[in-house]
Amino acid sequence: LSNGLALTPPMGFNYWNFDGCKTNLINETMMMDTAYAMSTNGMSKVGYEYVNLDDCWMAKTRDENGNLRADPIRFPHGIKYLSDYIHSLGLKFGIYGDIGSETCQGYPGSENYLEQDAKQFAEWGVDFVKMDGCNMQVSDMKKAYTDLGQYLQNTGRPMVYSCSWPTYAYVQNITMPFDYIEGICNLWREFQDITDNFTEWTQILDEMEDSVPKRSQFAAPGSFNDPDMLEIGNGLENAVEYKSMFSLWSIIAAPLIAGNDIISMSKEALEILINEEVIQVNQDPLGIQGNRVYKNQKLEVYQRTLINNSYAIALFNRGDTNSDISITSEMLNLTNHQNYNIRDLWSHTDNGTFSDTFTASVQPHGTVLIKLSPKINNNNNNNNNNNNN
Ligand code: GLA
Repeated sequence: LSNGLALTPPMGFNYWNFDGCKTNLINETMMMDTAYAMSTNGMSKVGYEYVNLDDCWMAKTRDENGNLRADPIRFPHGIKYLSDYIHSLGLKFGIYGDIGSETCQGYPGSENYLEQDAKQFAEWGVDFVKMDGCNMQVSDMKKAYTDLGQYLQNTGRPMVYSCSWPTYAYVQNITMPFDYIEGICNLWREFQDITDNFTEWTQILDEMEDSVPKRSQFAAPGSFNDPDMLEIGNGLENAVEYKSMFSLWSIIAAPLIAGNDIISMSKEALEILINEEVIQVNQDPLGIQGNRVYKNQKLEVYQRTLINNSYAIALFNRGDTNSDISITSEMLNLTNHQNYNIRDLWSHTDNGTFSDTFTASVQPHGTVLIKLSPKINNNNNNNNNNNNN
C-alpha cells in the first residue's frame, strides 16, 4: 500500500504471544510499563516503535453511540490516555480490531461500523491497525478490507494497515489475490498462528517458501508479508533457536513485532532483539524479501538482496547435530566471481573473503548469518587490485 508508511517492516511490540487473554496482565499498567521499558532498554534506539494492543482490550459491548470502548477494568483511563502516554515517549500506538461481527475472543467486531471505528482510531491517535478476520466469510473480506482501508485513509491520520485476510483464506484453502492485497494493506498476515515452538515456526517458514504463488514477489517498501509475531524470550525455545528465528525473520523481511514480556525479559532475549546488524538486514531500504536458495535434508541456505550490491545469507541447520553448511557462488547466483567481505552478524566479526565458496559449522537448530559486501577495488591504486586473485 503506497501510503508512505511501512517502507521497511514495522518494528514494535504486541502482547498476544506471551499472554493472549489468559491472565490479568493485559492492562494499562502493563502497556505503559512496556512502552517505558522499550524507550529505556535500547529497543527504541534500534527501531522498535509500535506499542500494540491485541485482542481483549475492549469492553464486551459498544457504548450507547455505538463506539468501541476499552474494558473499564483493564484500561480505567481509556485508550486516549494510553495513546498519549506512548506518544509522550516518542513511540507509536497500535490497536487491534476485527473486520467481522466479533473478534476471535468474542469482543465487538467492526462489521457495520467500519467508518465509525476508523474515525475513532484516528481520534485516539492510533498509528497502527491490526485488523483480524474472525467471524466473517472470506468471500466478504475483499470488500470489507478495501472499505476499511479507504475509511482509514479518509481520516487523514497515517495508520499502518495490517490485514489478516490471507490467514483466513489459507486455512480454508481459498485462493488469495496477493497482487490486490499488496495495494490495499501495508502488511498481510499469512498462515496459522505462531507458537513458541521450533517445529511450528519453521513450518510457517516452509509455508512461506513453498507458497504458490511465491509470496516473496509481493513484498516491497510499504507492502510486506507477515509470518506472524516473534516468540523470542517466551521461554520454550533456547537462545540458538531464537537467534535462528530472528535471522530468518530478517531475511524474509517480516515485521519485527516482539511478542514477549518486555518488562521482565532476560538479558539474553534483549540482546537478540536489539542486534543492530541483524536489524539492518531486516530494515534494508530496498525492501526485497529473501528466499530459500538451497535445501538438502535439514540444511538450508537463505539469501536476501540488500542495498549496495550486498547480500545477507543465512546458513540454517534444522537438524539435531552440528553440521557444516557450504555456500557457493553458483548457489547464490553470484557468478561474476567478485570478492566479498564476509561479516558474521551474530559474532560481529569479519570472517575473510568470499569469492567462490564458504563453509561454516552450524549448531543444531542454529543459523550462521553473514553479510557479503563487495570488496572495493580502488582503481587509482593499481598495485593492490590483483592481490587476492
Ligand atoms: C487471531 C490472530 C492472532 C491474535 C488472536 C486474538 O488468532 O491470528 O494473532 O490476534 O486472533 O484473538
